[in-house]
Parts: sequence; structure tokens; C-alpha cells
Amino acid sequence: MNNAPIGVYDSGFGGLSVWRELRRMLPNESLIYLGDGKNCPYGGRRRSEIEAFAVEAVERLVAEGVKMVVVGCNTATTAAVKRLRELWPDMPIVGLEPAVKPACLTTRTRRIAVLATEHSLKSDMFLDTARRYAEDVEVLKVVGEGFVELVEHDMEGSPEAEQMVRRAVEPLLECGVDKIVLGCTHYPFLRPEIERVVAGHNIEIIDSGEAVARRVVWLLERYDIAAENDNNPIMRYLTFADEEYLRRLERKAMNIERTL
Ligand code: DGL
Repeated sequence: MNNAPIGVYDSGFGGLSVWRELRRMLPNESLIYLGDGKNCPYGGRRRSEIEAFAVEAVERLVAEGVKMVVVGCNTATTAAVKRLRELWPDMPIVGLEPAVKPACLTTRTRRIAVLATEHSLKSDMFLDTARRYAEDVEVLKVVGEGFVELVEHDMEGSPEAEQMVRRAVEPLLECGVDKIVLGCTHYPFLRPEIERVVAGHNIEIIDSGEAVARRVVWLLERYDIAAENDNNPIMRYLTFADEEYLRRLERKAMNIERTL
């Protein structure tokens, strides 16, 4: 048993979609959420740059005494998870991968789409997964242009969000895909917009939040580091950006907390 917090890290607000699933599944675990904010978005950056940001973030979380790190960011996972595990071999580090496998196993049309950042879609990790599970499945790769910025500016539900999501997702309706994988943790915040575009087309939207939370549950048991049942969980928020960003981050988390 271990009541130390779990660290969750993302380039910005996106990892809160993972944080939500952790709060649901592990209500007595303390969490420290670190949303970089200063260097966001990561999606168009070089691998070495993203790796350096991720190392700095995990250093910070380790200094705060976390017992496990969840890299709640697909882009940072593809760029840095290997290095993070080399640097902290004794720390359980959970990475995020787009849910290509479950989509490939259940598609009927043999055609799926993965929405993610430019960096994730070009990464070896993504290409390997696609090769492994999508042998006879066509995988359409789509960058959610502007999606991260919309979420970072609290613009979910705005006409601009509706328009940008429509621009990226509408072309998929003609392609016969029956699964859309959300391969970036910011994108679930735009799920209502995506659902409106695909309504009536029999397309399932899949994200990795729940699967990652299940993996965390499994690791806590395996390492015997779950919090005690009567632990009073504490939520903390950190950023490399300014005070105003921190306030917006906390507000977003509070809004999620109210829907749990
Ligand atoms: N939330 C991130 C992801 O899952 C990255 C977004 C970004 O910073 O571009 O890929």
C-alpha cells in the first residue's frame, strides 16, 4: 500500500481526459497533474525537443514524490517514453498509444481513421502498431488541424470548433470508415463536435482513456502500491506556464470533477 500521488503529464489540458478516467476508476488515489502549457502544442515539434520537455516534466513529478507517472499525451509518449524508462527504471511509467488495435479487431468495413498530431502519426511507434494490427485494414491518418489550440483556449462548443472539426472529419464520411480513433488526448474534449459530424453514419469513436486507466489499476496491484481504501485523495495541479494558465487548468479539472 502506498498513498503517494500518481503523476499525470501532458503538453497542456489534454491529459485531463485521462485524468477523468483515473478519477472515475481510482477515486481514492491522489493525483498531481502537470500540464506543460509553456511549450504546447507539441504536435509539430521535433522529437528531440519533445523528449527534453518530457524529461523536465517527469523530473518535476519525481521531485514531488509520485509513485507512478502516466504520460497522458500520445505525442510525448511516441517521442520520449523509451528515454523516460531508461532514466527512471524503477518508476512505473505508463504511456499512451492510439487505440489502433481494438479498432482493427472490430472494424467491419476494414477501413479506420486515426486522428492525431502530425508527430504521432509519423512516429515509429505508431507505424509499428499500424503494421502489426492493421495488416488487412486500411488506416487513414488525419491530423486534427487546430484541435489542440481550440481546447487550450477553452473553445469547445464554439462555432469555430464546430467548423474546424467539420473540416477535418467530414471528408472521412465518404471513405467508408466505421471507426475513428482519437489518438491525441486533447481530442476527446471535442467529442460532441465529432459526434455531430458523424451522426447517422454508424461510425464508432474510440479513445484510449479508459484502457489507460485500466492499465494503471493493473500496475498498482502488480507493484502493490495502491492507496489505502480510507485514503483521503488530494488533487494538485502544476504547469510550466503562468498563473493564469494554472487557474484555467484547475477550472477545467473542477468542471470535469462535477461530471464524475
Ligand atoms: N495531448 C497531446 C497528445 O495526446 C499533444 C497535443 C499537442 O501538444 O500537440 O498527442
